[in-house]
Amino acid sequence: MLIERIEARWIDAFETALRLCELKEGDSVAILSESQSRRVLIDLAELALARLGCRAFHLVLPSPRPRASVPIRSTGASDALGGQIPVIRALAAVTLVLDCTVEGLLHAPELAGILAGADGRRPRLLMVSNEHPEILERTLPDAALEPVVRHAMQRLRAAQRLTVRSAQGTDLAVDLAGARIGGVWGYCTKPGQVAHWPGGLCLAFPARSSTRGTLVLAPGDVNLTFKRYLRDRIALTIEDDYVTSIDGSGLDVDLMRSYWSAWGDRAAYAVSHVGWGLNPRARWDALAFYDKRDCNGTELRAFAGNFLYSTGANEVAGRHTLGHFDLPLRNCTVTLDGVAVVEEGVVVEGVEENR
Ligand SMILES: [Fe+2]
Repeated sequence: MLIERIEARWIDAFETALRLCELKEGDSVAILSESQSRRVLIDLAELALARLGCRAFHLVLPSPRPRASVPIRSTGASDALGGQIPVIRALAAVTLVLDCTVEGLLHAPELAGILAGADGRRPRLLMVSNEHPEILERTLPDAALEPVVRHAMQRLRAAQRLTVRSAQGTDLAVDLAGARIGGVWGYCTKPGQVAHWPGGLCLAFPARSSTRGTLVLAPGDVNLTFKRYLRDRIALTIEDDYVTSIDGSGLDVDLMRSYWSAWGDRAAYAVSHVGWGLNPRARWDALAFYDKRDCNGTELRAFAGNFLYSTGANEVAGRHTLGHFDLPLRNCTVTLDGVAVVEEGVVVEGVEENR
């Protein structure tokens, strides 16, 4: 069993991550949390910020009532702020928001207002994923990852078409025209920048009517909403962005059908984002070592060479829903305009060397 308490080496880990964010003595930092936040992360953040000489304060909100009768996990869209203007104003005025909310503010409606800043200055935001500190320690941000992710984002931005194939039968095509491209390497240094720890992935939110084909989930692929390795083979038919058929049998298939249908919302079946993992420190097998309460699964979104397919909300396509699946797949070949960036689950090194 993993114990959650202050360990000196975990303060070191927070200090390293925060130094990579280029915080200086005297910088103002808001440690944002809610009543259901993981306490040890808040304490580690405070102690590390004290070492840096930052002026830190805590902003703590009560965790709100659930928005739906269905459990919601790993959406990256915290509703802890509830649109409160005084909270947004306080966060807008700091150098860095250290986001320790359960879900994180990555897709929260208040984020734009916070990043707009105050008095001519804009904050940056680092979301600390709701993981046991041991996971954060293993996936400590590394400056070497930044150029790799930046280069992958440039390639994604320049491409017209992303395709994915696998020996299991995946054969998917995504039109990237009008897509919004994102990428995270685990820290943020510039005003208005957003990052999460663990980081190390690039992704695209495709425009409407962009995605079609077959996505085959195989044993060992992961459903991160359930924090569960799949043991069944599940073939998803995707037509015009939407999963229109779920073929397979077994508990994994039943769970996915059940959760999707519980939303009663067609948008939950649509593509949210597509991308691939680039972080060599993040491990595919990590989920085997932790209880569900110990992890949020961000490590498995970032492990190098995964293809990450996600369903649910996609602002670019004008779809809004709380139903969300993040599905990292192994052993896929991902190509951009016919050139492989991931070959059978391995990041193509030559592509990254040309940065
Ligand atoms: Fe997602």
